Amino acid sequence: MAFSSDFIYQLQLGNPIDDVMKSYVNLIRRGRNYVCSCPFHSEKTPSCTVYPDTQSFYCFGCGSGGDVITFIRKIENLEYFEAIKLLAERAGLDIPTDKQGEKTARIKARVLEINRETAVFFYKALTSDPSKIGLSYFASRGILPQTIKKYGLGYADNSWDKLKNHLLSLKFKEDELVTAGVCLSRNGNTFDLFRNRVMFPIMDLRGNIIGFGGRILDDGMPKYINTADTPAFKKSRNLFSLNFAKNSSSNRLILAEGYMDVIAINQAGFENVVATLGTALTSEQARLISQYAKEVIISYDSDNAGQKATSKAINLLSEAGVAARIISFEGAKDPDEYIKKFGATRFKLLLDNSDGAINFKLEKCKDGLDLSTEIGKIECLKRIVDVLAQIYNELERNVYISKVSKEYEVSSEILKSQIDSKIAKKSKRDKRNDWKNIVSKPRYKDEINPEVNQHPRENKAEEGIIAYLFQNPDMIKKVTNFITPEHFVTSFNKKVFSVLCEKLNSSTNFTLSLLSDEFSDSEMGRITGIEAKHRDIILTEQVVDDYIKVLHDHKNNTLSDNINSNEDLLELVERLKNIK
Ligand code: UTP
Ligand code: MN
Repeated sequence: MAFSSDFIYQLQLGNPIDDVMKSYVNLIRRGRNYVCSCPFHSEKTPSCTVYPDTQSFYCFGCGSGGDVITFIRKIENLEYFEAIKLLAERAGLDIPTDKQGEKTARIKARVLEINRETAVFFYKALTSDPSKIGLSYFASRGILPQTIKKYGLGYADNSWDKLKNHLLSLKFKEDELVTAGVCLSRNGNTFDLFRNRVMFPIMDLRGNIIGFGGRILDDGMPKYINTADTPAFKKSRNLFSLNFAKNSSSNRLILAEGYMDVIAINQAGFENVVATLGTALTSEQARLISQYAKEVIISYDSDNAGQKATSKAINLLSEAGVAARIISFEGAKDPDEYIKKFGATRFKLLLDNSDGAINFKLEKCKDGLDLSTEIGKIECLKRIVDVLAQIYNELERNVYISKVSKEYEVSSEILKSQIDSKIAKKSKRDKRNDWKNIVSKPRYKDEINPEVNQHPRENKAEEGIIAYLFQNPDMIKKVTNFITPEHFVTSFNKKVFSVLCEKLNSSTNFTLSLLSDEFSDSEMGRITGIEAKHRDIILTEQVVDDYIKVLHDHKNNTLSDNINSNEDLLELVERLKNIK
C-alpha cells in the first residue's frame, strides 16, 4: 500500500467530502445527506448524493461515486498521487514520501523538461532559419514579432528526426520523447511528430509548457496537430492562453475557436481571450472558466459549425454557472479574419454589442422560416416557447415574454400559459429521463463486473455480503469464518471482498478511502454504489447467512458449475442420463 491507513485517515479528516465537493457543485441538504446535480454527467434533476457519515458520494444516474480522493481524481483529472497531494495541501498535511508517487512526479518533470527544450528548439528554428519559411508565414498572417516572442511561437521544418536527435543529444531517452508526445513510435522507429508546421506552445497557469499545437504551412491535412494527452497534459482540462488571460483585469473571458483567433484577438489588445485545444468545449473547461470569469463572450466562427458549437458552449457554460454573450459578425469567417479586415476598434464594437445567450437563441428560432406567412410565424413561436421554457428565473422569463409578445404581436398571457405548461411537462420528462438512465444503465453492458449477467443471484449475494461489512466492519472475523474470497463467483466482487478483508483486518480506522489506491475511479463508483443501494435495507445476520449459503451452494453444485453454452447444457443432460 502506498500510504499508511493512518495518513489516509488524517487526510480524510482534513477534507470532509461535503466541504471539498461544495467548491465544485451546489450542495443541497436533504436530511443527513446532501444532493447535487452530478458533475460527471449531464442531468436536469439532482441524482448525486453525498453521505457525510461514510464520507462518500454516489450518483444513481451514472454510477460515479467514491470517496473524497476518487472525487478529486475525477473532477480534477488527476492521478491518484496527484489527488492525494492536492488534498494534503488543502488540509495542510505533509505527504509521506512514496516510491510510486515519486516515480509519477519524476516522469511528469521529465516531460515538462522535454517540452521546454522542444519549445526553445522550435523558437530558434523559427527565428534563425535562413530560409525564413516560418517567419514569412506568420508575417503573412499579420503576426507581429512581439507576439511571436510573447507566445513563444515556433517552426518545425520538414525533417523526420531533427528534434529527436537534438533531444537525444541532451540525454533524453527515446521512450521519454514518446511519453512527452513530441515523437511518435511506429514499428520500432521513433520520429518527430510535428513537421512542416508553425508551432503554438501550450502553457499551464504556472508557465510550464504542457503541449503543442502545430499548423501546417500549406493546405495539407490535417490542418492542425495537437499533442495527445500525456502525464503533463490533458487537453480537456486546459485552455490555450489562460496563463495570460488570468492576469487580465476584466471579469469576462473571450472564448475563441482556435490558436490563430486567440493570438489575433490578444494582439489586438484583448488579454482576456482563451480557446479550447482542438476539441469542443468540455464541462471541465466550463468549470475552469467559472473560476476566472462570471461571463464569457463566445467568439466562434460565423459558419454553421461555429454557430452549432456556440449553442453547445452556451449550455455547458450555463451548467457551470457562467453567463454567455455571443458576438455576431459578417464579412469574415472568424475573429482573426475580422480583425485583419476591419481592425481592433471594430472588433471592440462587436464585443460591446454582443448579445445575451437568450437573444442568440431567439434569433436562431427564425432560421429557415418565412415569417411573413402564418405557418412560418407559428412554427417560430413554438420554437420560442421552447427556448423561454428553459429560463429558470421567472423574472427573467417575463422580461423576454414581453419582448417577444411585442415583436410578434401575440398576447403575453397566451405565451405565458404555453410556456408554463411546457415547463411542467419538461420537469416531468426530466425526472422520467433521469430515472430511465438510472434503470437502463447497468443492464446491457457491465464493464466493471461482466459476470453479473451470468450470475445475477450470486452477484446479489456477494454485494449483500460486501454491504454488510460496510455497515458492520467489526463483523469481519465472523464473516470470514464462513466465507473466503475463493467462494466469490464474480471476479470484481471477489477482488473487492478480498481487499476489504485485508484492510479491515489491518487498520483500526477503516474508511472507504483505504480502497481508493487499489481501484480505478469507475470501480470506486461501483463499490460506493453497492454501499449506497443497501443503505435503506437492514442486513441482519440471518440475511447474510442466506447470502453465504447461496455462494456455498454455487461452489458445491459441481454439476451445474460450467453451463455456459448450449453445448455444456447438452453434455450435462447426457451425464444426467448416464447417472440414471
Ligand atoms: P479552424 O479550422 O477554424 O482553424 O479550426 P483556424 O483556427 O481558423 O486556423 P487558420 O486560421 O486556418 O490557421 C479551429 C481550431 O480547431 C482545431 C484547432 O485547435 C484550431 O485552432 N483544429 C482544426 C484541429 O485541432 N485540427 C484540425 O485539423 C483543424
Ligand atoms: Mn482562421
